[in-house]
Amino acid sequence: MGEKKQQSLIPAPPYGPRGFQVLMRVEFRPAIASDVDALAALERETFESDRISRTSFHRLLRRRSAATIVARSDASLAGYALLLFRERTSAARLYSLAVDKAFAGIGLGRALLAQAEELAAQRGCRELRLEVRLDNMKARALYEKAGYTLFGRRDSYYSDGEAALRYRKALTPRRGRSSRLERPQLGTAR
Ligand SMILES: CC(C)(COP(=O)(O)OP(=O)(O)OC[C@H]1O[C@@H](n2cnc3c(N)ncnc32)[C@H](O)[C@@H]1OP(=O)(O)O)[C@@H](O)C(=O)NCCC(=O)NCCS
Repeated sequence: MGEKKQQSLIPAPPYGPRGFQVLMRVEFRPAIASDVDALAALERETFESDRISRTSFHRLLRRRSAATIVARSDASLAGYALLLFRERTSAARLYSLAVDKAFAGIGLGRALLAQAEELAAQRGCRELRLEVRLDNMKARALYEKAGYTLFGRRDSYYSDGEAALRYRKALTPRRGRSSRLERPQLGTAR
């Protein structure tokens, strides 16, 4: 796994006595089966509905058409991004993105989004698409700042009746480069 990991230094609280930021080491890598309990716990803490179950995470980890990137800080799961791919389409879908509240507001969501974009580009995708709740102003701000443009809306998309906004961003495909964020092939490709 060594060469597949990437470490980033992200400025993080707490701040030192004279306002110096303490740098936190965060490692980005493909999710593995032993991450699933922490992923499911983060889902429970983060989302009130439409959560991804443990079983679904396990199934997604085995699918070549899905990629889950985890951000780990020491032994903790700090966040994750989940991408879905479809054959014969050059658009990848950001299916989920979440950051643990203990790591909120320090740039980790932005960093995970950038990692997801890089992985999609390395898989040859020309576009990344996503849906976000109309009332999720934090996430909408994150996507808009990262260059995503609104291209549609789906009413009553979520189980509580909230609408989804659809965003997309063009990517520069870089097929041919193997990504350190690709997990080793674990199961049958679908
Ligand atoms: C949305 C989420 C991923 C942002 O993660 P984060 O690590 O806290 O965000 P970052 O620190 O990387 O901030 C990136 C941008 O997000 C936006 N943002 C983050 N926190 C915000 C807040 N409290 N209020 C408004 N905008 C906010 C800002 O645009 C910010 O850019 P800026 O710092 O230049 O202003 C995180 O809040 C989360 O997991 N939310 C719950 C799950 C969720 O909504 N996922 C998205 C589903 S589509």
